[in-house]
Amino acid sequence: MKNILVIGATGQIGSELTLELRKRYGNTHVVAGYIQGAEPKGELKESGPTEIVDVTDQEVIEAVVKKYQIDTIYNLAALLSVVAESKPKLAWKIGVDGLWNVLEVARMHGCAVFTPSSIGSFGTDTPHTQTPQDTIQRPRTMYGISKVTTELLSDYYYTKYGVDTRAVRFPGIISNVTPPGGGTTDYAVDIYYSAVKGEKFVCPIGEGTLMDMMYMPDALNAAISLMEADPTKLVHRNAFNIASMSFAPETIFAAIKKHVPGFEMTYEVDALKQSIANSWPDSLDDTCARNEWGWKPMYDLESMTIDMLQKLRAKL
Ligand code: SER
Repeated sequence: MKNILVIGATGQIGSELTLELRKRYGNTHVVAGYIQGAEPKGELKESGPTEIVDVTDQEVIEAVVKKYQIDTIYNLAALLSVVAESKPKLAWKIGVDGLWNVLEVARMHGCAVFTPSSIGSFGTDTPHTQTPQDTIQRPRTMYGISKVTTELLSDYYYTKYGVDTRAVRFPGIISNVTPPGGGTTDYAVDIYYSAVKGEKFVCPIGEGTLMDMMYMPDALNAAISLMEADPTKLVHRNAFNIASMSFAPETIFAAIKKHVPGFEMTYEVDALKQSIANSWPDSLDDTCARNEWGWKPMYDLESMTIDMLQKLRAKL
């Protein structure tokens, strides 16, 4: 990775991944690609090159790849699970047609491509506990359907054209910089904001609902380590299960309450979010990622909670 383009650089993951990549590879070597209406601000804007890159426009992607001699593309453009249910066609256009554009440019210009998949690529028929790397993937959400398709399309471009495609299946990502928008796992971010603001948290996901989650620093490490990994060790490519913690609402609530004793939570279950959550795994088996490229998370629920509360208190 010498010259990197991040598509979706102002989103939840992109905003932090771009800065982390600039730290590691040099500011001028990492281009923040964004869409109109989601302009980069502050450090993201000041610290390196920025370009409008709409993933649905292949010519624009190609022009930026040529201009900066890009060799690696992080393609983070996507609609999250809940919003994708209200705009299924747009979710497909961004997630699948968009990836096709990226892969075509990558094929012509020799770029490696990282495209995140998700726990959303699994469905009700998937074994829910310690979900294996290779198993049934029959999601019924448009988010999941587009993620399974991106996994297959990325593998296709690797086997047919030799494009160096790699991916992980991200769980819910918890962060304190850019909020997620329209996901099923967003509650696990929102709950920290409520705790720090001294507000009661109304949880849209029911008690006992387990989902896999991860703290942003681990997610960034996963994305970068996988792209740096020795290709001869990779048996899988698109996409690796990765895991660091799995919890239900009452467990994260208890972890926060330990540090914010007056914190309160009630439930007002959102039917759509709950049905999506019910169809996703309770926990993932990430043995293949550990064995093939040395994946190892640093944060658990307790250490993440301490860091989240500290950072949000400083920020708010
Ligand atoms: N965080 C995503 C969502 O909730 C799952 O990958 O949609």
